[in-house]
Amino acid sequence: MKFTQFLLRNSSIPKQALVDRFSKFSPSPLSMKQFIDFGSANACEKTSFVFLRQELPVRLANIMKEIDFLPDKLLSTPSLQLLQSWYATSLMEIVGFLEKEPDDKKILKKFTETLVNIRNRHNNVVTTMAQGVVEYKDAFGSDPVTNQNVQYFLDRFYMSRISTRMIMNQHSLIFDGSANPAHPKHIGTIDPDCDVTEVVKDAFDSSKMLCEQYYLTSPEIDLTQVNAKGPDQPLRIVYVPSHLYHMLFELFKNAMRATVETHEMALHLPPVKVRVSLGSEDLTIKISDRGGGVPLRKIERLFSYMYSTAPSPVDIDNSRNAPLAGFGYGLPISRLYAKYFQGDLQLYSMEGYGTSAVIYLKALSSESVERLPVYNQSAIRHYQTSNEADDWCMPSKDPKKLGKYEKRS
Ligand SMILES: Nc1ncnc2c1ncn2[C@@H]1O[C@H](COP(=O)(O)OP(=O)(O)OP(=O)(O)O)[C@@H](O)[C@H]1O
Ligand SMILES: [Mg+2]
Repeated sequence: MKFTQFLLRNSSIPKQALVDRFSKFSPSPLSMKQFIDFGSANACEKTSFVFLRQELPVRLANIMKEIDFLPDKLLSTPSLQLLQSWYATSLMEIVGFLEKEPDDKKILKKFTETLVNIRNRHNNVVTTMAQGVVEYKDAFGSDPVTNQNVQYFLDRFYMSRISTRMIMNQHSLIFDGSANPAHPKHIGTIDPDCDVTEVVKDAFDSSKMLCEQYYLTSPEIDLTQVNAKGPDQPLRIVYVPSHLYHMLFELFKNAMRATVETHEMALHLPPVKVRVSLGSEDLTIKISDRGGGVPLRKIERLFSYMYSTAPSPVDIDNSRNAPLAGFGYGLPISRLYAKYFQGDLQLYSMEGYGTSAVIYLKALSSESVERLPVYNQSAIRHYQTSNEADDWCMPSKDPKKLGKYEKRS
């Protein structure tokens, strides 16, 4: 702490020193249980404040260190410059609370206001980052190494953002003094009794409305649920309903679009099948469509940030008229939400028939623990991979060479 105070008092010391200082700490992942404890009857605003004024700078600094490993030409785009200034400002604002008195009610109030400001400042981080990647790709193209680095970075960057928003939201929702009248049992953004099937139905209905607006038709849902713990019981887990809704909405939009476009001429659209099951370890949701599928070769690409289509500003401004496919971040961001609490999202496709998307979540809240990136030597090594030769043989393109030994080049 002494060193931080020294830094704060010496404004001539560049912000970089703060980033260096806080990136030396590893982020502390929170479990669902800890999130609930922070928000339960004996919740203590002071404890939460003291935790966050250290933890937020640590999480921000850890990811700011990784931003530096992006290609220089990407870092110098106006989008990335703007984005870095947001991170630097927010870091400074929170660090400004390190010397403040936790017993002072005014300080606690100011802190909550600062968190709300920071959250708003970072609202457009995803589109701004995506814009930067598009500017870079348009100007310099993309190669496999850059694609791999950008993919590795963006998965970590967006995951870090999900986590900082989660901990800021929890604090500001729990301690702003007003209960949530619509959901009195929610603890911040968490529903301790989240009825998964209800969220499935909500997300399906919203996607269906959008689909009908756009295509004038939409497939029905065929929903079944299995609760291994007690038949006929609702499937409940401790979860953040908005995260679950986000993933389901994205998967339903994809399934509906594929279904409608594949069966354009048909009178009857095959329904989207949804299976939800709760076991002792996993809560699994499988969404299967008959939308023609995707060849295996292309599946990995569907999760790629660099291969996805451009977010043109027109599309962003025109959100009221949002079509079923935006700028291609639906799948990768949904997978991050699933992974955030130790789950996953996978696609299985049968080309010519259809696709199944499966969301895995932890059934037990004790296993739902934040999954956070940490800046260390292993992370640095990832950015240093170069364009090395493949360690699997490439099929020979020249059939005449078959049977002869090929010399290694
Ligand atoms: N169920 C599916 N059946 C067939 N193709 C699919 C399916 N789901 C995804 N895809 C393909 O994967 C691509 C990427 O999906 P993703 O949801 O990530 O982006 P998008 O739908 O193009 O845009 P966004 O979701 O951002 O609005 C889609 O454009 C589509 O070509
Ligand atoms: Mg989509």
